[in-house]
Amino acid sequence: MQSTIQASANTQYFLDLEDRYGAHNYHPLPVVMKKAKGVHFWDVDDKQYYDFLSGYSAVNQGHCHPVILDALLQQAQTLTLTSRAFYNDQLGEYEKFITSYFGYDKVLPMNTGVEAVETALKLSRKWGYEVKGIEADRAKIVVCSSNFHGRTLGVISYSTDPTATKNYGPFLAGFEVIPFNDLVALEKALQDKNVAAFLFEPIQGEAGVVVPDDGYYTGVRALCSQHNVLMVADEIQSGLCRTGTMLAVDIENVRPDIVILGKALSGGVLPISAVLADDTIMLTIKPGEHGSTYGGNPLACKVAVAALMVLKEENMAANAEAMGKIFRSELEKLNSPHIKTIRGRGLLNAIVIRHENPEAAWELCLQLKENGLLAKPTHGDKIRFAPPLVITEEQIMDCVGIIAKSLENL
Ligand SMILES: Cc1ncc(COP(=O)(O)O)c(C=O)c1O
Repeated sequence: MQSTIQASANTQYFLDLEDRYGAHNYHPLPVVMKKAKGVHFWDVDDKQYYDFLSGYSAVNQGHCHPVILDALLQQAQTLTLTSRAFYNDQLGEYEKFITSYFGYDKVLPMNTGVEAVETALKLSRKWGYEVKGIEADRAKIVVCSSNFHGRTLGVISYSTDPTATKNYGPFLAGFEVIPFNDLVALEKALQDKNVAAFLFEPIQGEAGVVVPDDGYYTGVRALCSQHNVLMVADEIQSGLCRTGTMLAVDIENVRPDIVILGKALSGGVLPISAVLADDTIMLTIKPGEHGSTYGGNPLACKVAVAALMVLKEENMAANAEAMGKIFRSELEKLNSPHIKTIRGRGLLNAIVIRHENPEAAWELCLQLKENGLLAKPTHGDKIRFAPPLVITEEQIMDCVGIIAKSLENL
């Protein structure tokens, strides 16, 4: 998968540095960023690009949002970390803010997305044993095929992607995998009384932005309630206005028992994640039973409040919904023979490429880069298009022009 486009000497210097000294656990596009603002990046040769990945939806609010940066800088000069051995004057305020923002009794703060997923799994098992009454060590969690919930051993234990699991075994037991968007399979799986929770992504991002049928969230809610099983929504990528509503499940007015947030909870400036649940679930974890040195640090608390405020104050859900509609309909109008499918909701979108060259999606991303737009293939033939939610209609039209031009060169 070598780029046919020659990198500048300046760019090559940084590519070589990472290649020589960094682990090879990623395959980035050969472009080196030095600055970003709003929907734009600038590389080390001062070339400007549209960012159509948004740090895998961490930068929903746009790069270097002034309100978020202001919160970061002010708090960084005051108090950054106490650990949870002591109280700090930001955590309680943040907990009050985020629980009333989303309508849950309690929040458990963590850092990365995968840690929040692990937290939700532990919480689900605790609840399963201590509230539902599942026999010791028999608790089961139902998950979906083609899921992506992060990279820890616990979380990859139920991945169906061989790239994520090869030579990492043995894996954690206690999971059952069913197809995504399949209420019949869910109903069957929930017959087992040892099921504590159903964990799912409302829209499967890494799988290539797979949107379930209308009514899926309502159906999941009904089945989980009927079988006394926790509905656990991983909204790390789909949440925080990305898909045109605050949470993706809001489109059907459904309330999960546990909501997992990360990524845009900081607007891209710090790793901040959170698990939201009501007392009957959250209070099953007692002092000393779970935690994180950085989870709930005052810097993160201040930043998360600012990041959440900005989403509402700047109507980012409405903009995502409107711009997403325009984007998908303009892509349709291109009528490109190389686009097999266009799908998505709000500004979480993907195309599936049709081409005899199996590397065509990667080649298209290289063309897009040359023409000033950065996107990344996922699972071979899919390309995700997810710009920051502050993008304007004029910019969307400009980007569709870039995509059209790049497709012509494919
Ligand atoms: C739905 C979902 N869950 C969990 C994660 C893991 O988040 P992190 O990379 O911050 O650990 C991701 C990351 O892409 C994700 O998309």
